[in-house]
Amino acid sequence: LSDDACPSSCICARDSGTVTCRDGEDTEVPAGIPEWTSTLILRGNNISTLQRGAFTTNGTELEMTTLSLSYNGIQAIEPYAFVGLPRLHLLDLSHNRLVSISARAFHGLLELRSLYMNNSLMSTAAVQLSSALGTQSLRNLHILELAGNQLKSIPLIRLDIYNLHTLVLINNSIETIGRENVSSLYQQRRIRVYLYMNPFRCNCDLEAFYYWLKNSSQCPDAGRLLCSEPEAKRGFPLEKLRGEDVDCMNENLEAVSYVFLGIVLALIGVVFLMVLYLNREGIKRWLNNIREACRDQMEVYHYRYEQDSDPRLANVAV
Ligand SMILES: *[C@@H]1O[C@H](CO)[C@@H](O)[C@H](O)[C@H]1NC(C)=O
Ligand SMILES: *[C@@H]1O[C@H](CO)[C@@H](O)[C@H](O)[C@H]1NC(C)=O
Ligand SMILES: *[C@@H]1O[C@H](CO)[C@@H](O)[C@H](O)[C@H]1NC(C)=O
Ligand SMILES: *[C@@H]1O[C@H](CO)[C@@H](O)[C@H](O)[C@H]1NC(C)=O
Ligand SMILES: *[C@@H]1O[C@H](CO)[C@@H](O)[C@H](O)[C@H]1NC(C)=O
Ligand SMILES: *[C@@H]1O[C@H](CO)[C@@H](O)[C@H](O)[C@H]1NC(C)=O
Repeated sequence: LSDDACPSSCICARDSGTVTCRDGEDTEVPAGIPEWTSTLILRGNNISTLQRGAFTTNGTELEMTTLSLSYNGIQAIEPYAFVGLPRLHLLDLSHNRLVSISARAFHGLLELRSLYMNNSLMSTAAVQLSSALGTQSLRNLHILELAGNQLKSIPLIRLDIYNLHTLVLINNSIETIGRENVSSLYQQRRIRVYLYMNPFRCNCDLEAFYYWLKNSSQCPDAGRLLCSEPEAKRGFPLEKLRGEDVDCMNENLEAVSYVFLGIVLALIGVVFLMVLYLNREGIKRWLNNIREACRDQMEVYHYRYEQDSDPRLANVAV
């Protein structure tokens, strides 16, 4: 009966199972998506909130496998937004403006293999992301792309709940990857992490990450990673750093040697003051002698000056 129905703002291609709704005025997911849809492309619309059950029509499940929601200005994803899509393999939420993501946003996506959220997360949503991704529902996730989101760290609490092969974190704000995260990565040997275009801080905080890059072969773009700090190393390839550049012992040793130098200088100062103090009588005498000598000298000068410039004496001479 409703097999040939197509939402008015969409183009439906039954042969390929594709429904495309582009650049419309829709502010919600269009109602009446056909049951035969395997790929739904909603793009360039103005959907500010993905509501609970946005893709279920009257509680019926859809067989859809691919859902592309890029460039819709989506700001919020409510809990259970994707229920009723048990076959979904690929979800693309790239190029939106997410301010909030519910911790239950991805609930029910048991078959999801690929999740794309490039250039989509505002800072508040970036904080909420790790809870949202922490759901057991995503246990089949293979590919997670989070490029261009100003992330400062890996937004995953643990890695062993997924089946992750590819984690894309290029063009973010990651300065280093900490020891704890490095050991989780070592444990998940299959994972490949892409990290190009992050502002790495090349000091000794980099140590564990530096050896992971060298040892693990888990970062396919390792050769393109560059230091952004310190100033002296800006633009320098991470791969070309030497062990001692990231050695905390080295750095600590340097700090220790400065402290030591300071102590030695302070000791010398104290000794000098002691010597002055112990010799105070002698020094007082010496100072007095100098003062006396000066005064004598000054008096002589004064006397001569007075003699030379006294007009009366000049008259007498005449
Ligand atoms: C998008 O929709 C909201 C209402 O949901 C409206 O206030 C806003 O002006 C729309 N923006 C654009 C660019 O159409
Ligand atoms: C939704 O389901 C209810 C019963 O569960 C039914 O009465 C109604 O007609 C259905 N609506 C549509 C649009 O299928
Ligand atoms: C971002 O997502 C798209 C999918 O829309 C993907 O094809 C692309 O490779 C991703 N990565 C970057 C860096 O844009
Ligand atoms: C990097 O990400 C920012 C958003 O954080 C985006 O504006 C910029 O276009 C991206 N750069 C590239 C080269 O993709
Ligand atoms: C990464 O490290 C942070 C703390 O530094 C931790 O909370 C998080 O669980 C770690 N994630 C992984 C996947 O190791
Ligand atoms: C691997 O990492 C360890 C430190 O965790 C380091 O001592 C060792 O030299 C590294 N091996 C190679 C081949 O870089």
